[in-house]
Amino acid sequence: MFDNFPLWPDRASSTAGNVDALFIFLVIVSALMTLLIFTAVLYFAARYRRQKDVLAEQIEGSTPLEITWSIIPLGVFMVIFLWGAVVYFKGRTPPRDSTEVYVVAKQWMWKLEHAEGQREINELHVPVGRDVKLIMTSQDVIHSFYVPAFRMKQDVLPGRYTVAWFRATKPGTYHLFCAEYCGTQHSGMIGSIIVQEPAQYEAWMSGGTTGPLSATGEKIFAELGCVTCHRSDTQGRGPNLQGVFGSPVQLEDGRMVTADENYVRESILDPGAKVVKGFKPVMPTFQGLVSEEQLNALVAYVKSLSKGSEAGGSAKPAVAVPAKAAKGSQVQ
Ligand code: CUA
Repeated sequence: MFDNFPLWPDRASSTAGNVDALFIFLVIVSALMTLLIFTAVLYFAARYRRQKDVLAEQIEGSTPLEITWSIIPLGVFMVIFLWGAVVYFKGRTPPRDSTEVYVVAKQWMWKLEHAEGQREINELHVPVGRDVKLIMTSQDVIHSFYVPAFRMKQDVLPGRYTVAWFRATKPGTYHLFCAEYCGTQHSGMIGSIIVQEPAQYEAWMSGGTTGPLSATGEKIFAELGCVTCHRSDTQGRGPNLQGVFGSPVQLEDGRMVTADENYVRESILDPGAKVVKGFKPVMPTFQGLVSEEQLNALVAYVKSLSKGSEAGGSAKPAVAVPAKAAKGSQVQ
């Protein structure tokens, strides 16, 4: 509809049309109401203007009228609310099996790393038609990942992950902005999203890489010695991490949490915060010892340990119960 209207941004994601439709609806409703109110003001001003020898007449309330002007706006607002909620949830919930890209924001650049291992700065290559999930964090202050052509904006916070997703529908190069004032060079914290045809994208992907992010994570896992406690063969001093990601975890204090990106992150940086049932809080913190990029790699590695079991679709909670055989190695 507005494709050739110069003030309208490109519409290049699966969400963009829905957001635009809602926006246009809101503009039309607002315009109609404005017209209605100003017409009424002018009409009443003329119709009931002060006249000689006419006395004002006292008017009592009218219940039918009041109910009408309550019910109609309620209906209109409910439509806006429900429509908005549907667009919001669709735009906020990454589809399963999305391609994952880790984003680290810093003053003043965007660092991106594909799950396959490709690293980029201020540029993100994605194929057209594929769901892409962004797992984002900041190593200093609050930033915001904003791609107008995708109608997508998500704050990027230090100390935790936030998630956003998109499916690009049109090849091209689109602006990436930081949309949260983050210091003197904030306006320079820009980049491009480069949407390519699948074949082109595969060619780009086959360029230099250090191997999958999860493999990098596995290496760090071994280097930091995590592997001595989190053993994959038997139960060590820490929970066995096979199949943990994405599953509910029973905690020592009785709570139940889902092992998502933020849980894994917290368990590395603040291991005492959520201790798995049956284990002692013996793990040291890795705060300050691992960079955001290394954290992302570790999260990708833990995630990769659950890839196979996820396909089975079994909903049974993978509660990490300490095996009796491992008692000897448990710290008392
Ligand atoms: Cu980063 Cu503004």
